[in-house]
Amino acid sequence: MERGKVDALLGIVFGDEGKGKVVDVFTPKYDVVARFAGGPNAGHTIIFEGKKFVLRSIPSGIFDEGKLNIIGNGCVIAPDLFMAEAKELETAGYDLRSRLHISKRAHLILPTHRVLDRAYEAAKGKSKVGTTGKGIGPTYSEKAARTSLRVGDILENFQAKYEALKARHEQMLRDLNYTDYDITEEEKLWLEGIEYMRTFPLTDTEIEINKYLREGKNVLAEGAQGTMLDIDHGTYPYVSSSSTICGGVCTGLGVAPLSIGEVFGIFKAYSTRVGAGPFPVELFDETGDKIREIGHEYGAVTGRNRRCGWVDLVALKYAIMINGVTQLIMMKGDVLDTFETIRVCVAYEKDGVTTTDMPYETEGWKAVYKDLPGWQTDLTGITRKEDFPEAFASYIKYLEKELETPITIVSVGPDRAQTIEM
Ligand code: GDP
Ligand code: IMO
Ligand code: MG
Repeated sequence: MERGKVDALLGIVFGDEGKGKVVDVFTPKYDVVARFAGGPNAGHTIIFEGKKFVLRSIPSGIFDEGKLNIIGNGCVIAPDLFMAEAKELETAGYDLRSRLHISKRAHLILPTHRVLDRAYEAAKGKSKVGTTGKGIGPTYSEKAARTSLRVGDILENFQAKYEALKARHEQMLRDLNYTDYDITEEEKLWLEGIEYMRTFPLTDTEIEINKYLREGKNVLAEGAQGTMLDIDHGTYPYVSSSSTICGGVCTGLGVAPLSIGEVFGIFKAYSTRVGAGPFPVELFDETGDKIREIGHEYGAVTGRNRRCGWVDLVALKYAIMINGVTQLIMMKGDVLDTFETIRVCVAYEKDGVTTTDMPYETEGWKAVYKDLPGWQTDLTGITRKEDFPEAFASYIKYLEKELETPITIVSVGPDRAQTIEM
């Protein structure tokens, strides 16, 4: 029997590209959907039949009742937030326990990790990362330092292990002079979340996934964050702390590189970034405000304003290279429906130097633009590519040519139904 494949669906810019929506649309074609990185810093929005869900740790394949969903070893998980998220789905009528497996090797985010996240940010002063405050950095740091707790630790002598790590964190916080915090209520919920998690299959997900692949079943790996937030290849230090790229699929699920099939790179028809860090295409004028307003560009996790700008070919080319993207998916074209001119960043410029390669130091570069005509047509009701206005079809063609990669899906609205195959 032919082995199954792991297709990857990856955000290739600064996150919030619409991964949740497309994973939900793609799920019927797969047997398993798995998250391989990140944790509740993610906010993946899915809208169908008048219902809206924002998922943080649970894969976006969960709405297809027949499919197994996996939270892989590369993820970090906060038991209290997981419980709240899962209960919301249970209340909405979705049965989770039979089809949501959690890796024993995923790492646990403690309440004190979240306090440490705040403490580190406070200590950074002006160079704050603008994290989501979910304890992501401190948890991945401890994973690398080999002092962390994993989901599998829940199964044996957990309370003692928890108390020991918490005490260590409290000492770290005293060392940072960060003592004005109270986790009493949070800790109660968190420990309740641990008990709740015990009722789920906590498994060796890497063995499960490879068994499925041997049986010829196919897996969709759902990315979180985006390539420019990757710990190695993003705009360091203004990044998240996990491997968000295609290589992260292998380490974060325990699958071999040759198992990877298609690599879908998802991006928006414009750019956004939430949190601090360089963003050469950022618009500080009313055009930026207009994109934010029409695109509802406010953080799904923190409610913060997302910074907005035009599409960035330098970043996209870099991400396509790093991930080996085989197909592109362009989201939110409809947000630009009313713009007379559409700008595209084709290069960065600083001190008379122009580059089309992502620079090591991304601070201080300015975007160089090419202008294209806007389509000034409502795209939201269009269901076939043949009906695209000419200027929109040209925009797609231009991007495909510049990026040397086909755009195979175009999304023209948040609903499942507003998704067009090319
Ligand atoms: P993710 O983190 O990559 O899953 O993306 P988010 O859910 O954080 O942000 C994407 C936002 O855009 C959500 O509010 C979606 O409902 C919405 N969305 C997705 N696709 C489209 C689209 O094609 N057009 C519009 N207008 N909104 C979209
Ligand atoms: P999804 O999966 C957009 C950003 C934060 C901050 C930086 C580090 O929904 O696309 P962290 O809390 O991870 O330590 O924050 O990364 N960030 C995201 N931005 N979408 C996300 O996830 C993000 N997850 C983290 O704003 O700048
Ligand atoms: Mg998001």
